[in-house]
Amino acid sequence: MAAPAKRARTCSISGLLERERDALQSLSGWVPLLLALLHELQAPASPWSPYFALWPELGRLEHPMFWPEEERLRLLKGTGVPEAVEKDLVNIRSEYYSIVLPFMEAHSDLFSPTVRSLELYHQLVALVMAYSFQEPLEEDEEEEPNSPLMVPAADILNHTASHNANLEYSADSLRMVATQPIREGHEIFNTYGQMANWQLIHMYGFAEPYPNNTNDTADIQMVTVRDAALQGASAHSSLCTSDSSHPAGVDVSSLHHFIGTKDQTEKLLLHERWDFLCEREMVGEEGAFVIGCEEVLTEEELATTLKVLCMPAEEFRDYKERAGWGEEETEDESLAITNIPKLRESWKQLLRDSVLLTLQTYATDLKTEQDLLSNKEDYAKLSWREQQALQVRYGQKMILHRLLELTS
Ligand SMILES: *[C@@H]1O[C@H](CO)[C@@H](O)[C@H](O)[C@H]1NC(C)=O
Ligand SMILES: *[C@@H]1O[C@H](CO)[C@@H](O)[C@H](O)[C@H]1NC(C)=O
Ligand SMILES: *[C@@H]1O[C@H](CO)[C@@H](O)[C@H](O)[C@H]1NC(C)=O
Repeated sequence: MAAPAKRARTCSISGLLERERDALQSLSGWVPLLLALLHELQAPASPWSPYFALWPELGRLEHPMFWPEEERLRLLKGTGVPEAVEKDLVNIRSEYYSIVLPFMEAHSDLFSPTVRSLELYHQLVALVMAYSFQEPLEEDEEEEPNSPLMVPAADILNHTASHNANLEYSADSLRMVATQPIREGHEIFNTYGQMANWQLIHMYGFAEPYPNNTNDTADIQMVTVRDAALQGASAHSSLCTSDSSHPAGVDVSSLHHFIGTKDQTEKLLLHERWDFLCEREMVGEEGAFVIGCEEVLTEEELATTLKVLCMPAEEFRDYKERAGWGEEETEDESLAITNIPKLRESWKQLLRDSVLLTLQTYATDLKTEQDLLSNKEDYAKLSWREQQALQVRYGQKMILHRLLELTS
C-alpha cells in the first residue's frame, strides 16, 4: 500500500494526519488532503503560499455546486448533474460536521477560526475536484482508489478530449509529457481523463462545445429500461382491449378481466427478470447504461438486459436455470453504435422506448437547443452557465437521437 504514505506527505502536519489516519477515513477519502490544505492556508509562513496564489479565486469557482438550486435544475434537468450535486452536498456537509470540524476543534492551535467554515470547505472540495490528480490503480488492483494529490504547475493546463500532453506517474516522479508534436504558440492541453460533458461541468465547471468532446456520453437509467418494458406490457394489453373484433358470443367484461390479469402476469414476469438481472449484478436501481459517441460503454450490461427482458418465457426459464448452475454466457454481444440496426426487432423496440422515456426527462427538446446553437447572436447573449449547460444537454440529446434513428 503505497498510497497512504504519499497522502499529504509534504505538508507540515503530515505526521498528525498519518497517526490519525483511521479517524479521518471517509467515503470520499479526501479528508486528509483537505485538512492539509486548510492548515496550510492559515499558516502564516506556509511554503505552499506561492502555490495558493496561483489558484483561481475560491469565491468564483463555476461548479454547478455553487449555482443556485433553481438555476441548476432549470439548466441541467435531465443531464444527471443535479442529482450528482445533491449527493455531493449531502456528503460534504456530513463529512465536515462529523470528521473535519471536530478534528479542527480538537487541534485548534493548527486551525485558526478563519478556516473553520463549511463554505471554505465546500470551495476546497470543488478545488480538489477540479485540480487534484489521482494516480491510476495498477491493473486488476481491487483496492480503494488512490488518494488525490495536488500537483502544482501540472494543474495549470486546460483539458480537451483531443489533448496533446498528459501526466505520467513513475515511482519517483510525475512528468507532464507531450503526446504529439505541439507547434509554437499552440496551447498545451492535458487530459483530465475520458470525460463526458456532464462530468466536466460537474467536476470542473465547463463543457466542451459540440462536437469536440469525442468522449461525450448520454446515460439511460437502468430502471428506465425496466419501466419501458413494463409500459410495453400495458401498451400491449391496451391494444388488445381496443380491438373491436371480438369473436361472436364473447362476454366483453370477462374478456377485460382476462386481459387485466394477463397484463398483471406479464408485469410480474418482467419484475422477475429485473430481479434476476439485479441478482446477477447486471443492473442496479441506481445504475445507468452509458452510451458513447461510437460505442455503448456498458455493452455487456445493456445487451444482457435487452436480451433477458425480451426473451420468450420458456427461454427465460432455461436461461435462469443455466445461470443457477453457473454456466456463463459466452455469446459476444457487440454493441458498437453502428451495429444497433442489426439487433433483434424486440431489442430495438425496447431500446427505442427507453430512449424516448429518457428524452422526456429534459425540460427542452433537441430543436430548441439547435435553434439556440445555430443563432450566433442569441448564443452570445447567453450567460456562461447557460452556454455550458446547453452544450451538455445538446451533446446528450444528439447521442440519444442517433439511437432513435438507428432503432427505427
Ligand atoms: C486555459 O483556458 C483559459 C480560458 O480559455 C485561458 O485563459 C488560459 O490561458 C488557459 N490556460 C493555459 C495554461 O493555457
Ligand atoms: C474544436 O475543435 C477544433 C478542431 O480541433 C478546433 O479548431 C476548435 O478550436 C475547437 N473548438 C473549441 C471551442 O474548443
Ligand atoms: C475519447 O477521445 C479520444 C480522442 O478523440 C479517443 O481516442 C478515444 O477513443 C475516446 N474514448 C471513448 C471511450 O470515447
